[in-house]
Amino acid sequence: MTTVTIQPSGKTIEAVPGSTLLAAVLAAGEPLGHKCVGKAECGACHLFVQEGRKSLSRATKPENEKLDAIPGVGAKSRLACLALLGEEPVTVELLGFNSGF
Ligand code: FES
Repeated sequence: MTTVTIQPSGKTIEAVPGSTLLAAVLAAGEPLGHKCVGKAECGACHLFVQEGRKSLSRATKPENEKLDAIPGVGAKSRLACLALLGEEPVTVELLGFNSGF
């Protein structure tokens, strides 16, 4: 198991390596959009990975192309439905209505 810490709430949840970041965030009861889940079409699951980025699966071409089309994307951006967890703990920051952005 690994852990995912979600900011700004500070919630931490255990997750299975190989599962998606989206699944962990939703299992923690945190709000995160996810209209297309795994298709890189909606961009609703965009978040920032603050720590543990190297532990995640590499971004695929469809993910990078979608990220390029989303306003406010930065070097720490990922689509949570496509980022698979590794063995190391990860800290993410949610955007949107609950984070003051
Ligand atoms: S849920 Fe649509 S890109 Fe992740």
